[in-house]
Amino acid sequence: MHRLGQVYEVINTMTDIQRGFLTLDNPVSHLPLTSPLNIRLNHIISHLPELLRAGKLRQEVTALNAEMANATIDIDDGNIQQQNAAILILLMIAQGYVWENPCQPENMIPAILARNIYSLCKSQQRFPALTYADYVLYNWKLKDSSKEISLDNIEPLATFTGQSDEAWFITIHVVIEAVCGKALEAAFQASRLAHVVKTTHQPWSPTVEIQLCEYLEKISLTLQEAMDILSKMQDGCDPHFYWSTLRHYLNGWEKVKTDTDNDANHGVYFDGVVIHGKMPKFRYKGPSGAQSSIMPALDAALGLNHDIDEMYQTLLAFQQYMPPNHMLFIQVMKLSELKHLIQTINSSKLTEAWKNALHYLGVFRLEHLKLVQQYIYHPAEKQGLSTLDLTGTGGSPLSQYLGSRYESTRNNS
Ligand code: HEM
Repeated sequence: MHRLGQVYEVINTMTDIQRGFLTLDNPVSHLPLTSPLNIRLNHIISHLPELLRAGKLRQEVTALNAEMANATIDIDDGNIQQQNAAILILLMIAQGYVWENPCQPENMIPAILARNIYSLCKSQQRFPALTYADYVLYNWKLKDSSKEISLDNIEPLATFTGQSDEAWFITIHVVIEAVCGKALEAAFQASRLAHVVKTTHQPWSPTVEIQLCEYLEKISLTLQEAMDILSKMQDGCDPHFYWSTLRHYLNGWEKVKTDTDNDANHGVYFDGVVIHGKMPKFRYKGPSGAQSSIMPALDAALGLNHDIDEMYQTLLAFQQYMPPNHMLFIQVMKLSELKHLIQTINSSKLTEAWKNALHYLGVFRLEHLKLVQQYIYHPAEKQGLSTLDLTGTGGSPLSQYLGSRYESTRNNS
């Protein structure tokens, strides 16, 4: 079998994408009650919104640090759900600690958090900062465990504010991720079939044509479903709440000054961690939908070529924040021969189905841009801020972002 064919078979057996990039095992909400540190962290995460609202989180963490700076979190080796929960809890508390006062962010995370975050993230070979995967993909539970994922049946495990607006913001993302499982499955199967057709030199058959059209239609229909969900953002998450409250907690560490005299020095130090003889300082981005693997995977499967502009580079940087199996899926989709096959076979039906799928990718991006305008541009303008200086929570300059991805999607379809 051709090497790429083997890769498709391996991916086919190791992924079950009925829930998209959400894990099949539901995330766990708390750490096991097996150590004093675990118990304290469970307590803090359950009261994170009250502590932040009262401006007392930093005090609470400082006290914890004084009591047990060298304590290690206790989780079962190899239990990935517990690891994800531990990382989520530690990073939400750390992010709250940094941004409790958005005007004066803290530039050093205390050892009790820093050492545990660093060692868990090192063992997973991932960035020690809150990502979209933590804040969305591993941060939900089913209200009724006998029912499926839906807007009515999801709630987050942890929030910064405790407000229903933040819960809705997370829920919308989780449900879009779940729904898009159908598009990802279709994109994968279409690419796999294109590969089989190419490598086995099969004569072109109507069955293959019908099958490929069905996969592409599934992508279009799923994107329409995802757009419907996206359009409900404002039903439960007020743009003013996002702009004035939530956005600050999702900010990246490149916005934290470490030296008041010098604007160029930014980042967050990890107290108690030593790398090459000194305390590390990290400047990671905040969580952002740009770290979701859905769009890059679909772009890749459909053979969409974006302009190599500054946004290309920025969005590629976001991919480093994705879990490794999601990155792998995107890379395999980049090898898809689907577009080439469609361009070679002269089938108007297939070409139309492919163009339609690209069209809906563009429409999804357009709808998303409207959200960015409502939730970021308009409130910023009302405050008299220049839109040229705005950056997203992921830190990308919005003046470049707005339109650039949408335009290059539209130009391909
Ligand atoms: C109020 C809601 C939302 C706002 C204000 C918002 C804001 C942003 C911003 C500012 C960016 C640019 C990157 C950055 O610096 O963060 C971005 C990118 C992105 N967001 Fe959102 N977003 C929202 C909801 C969503 C949802 C529900 C999804 C679905 C998963 C999503 C998916 C994406 C994707 C895929 C990108 C990368 C750009 C692309 O490939 O077109 N966003 N978002």
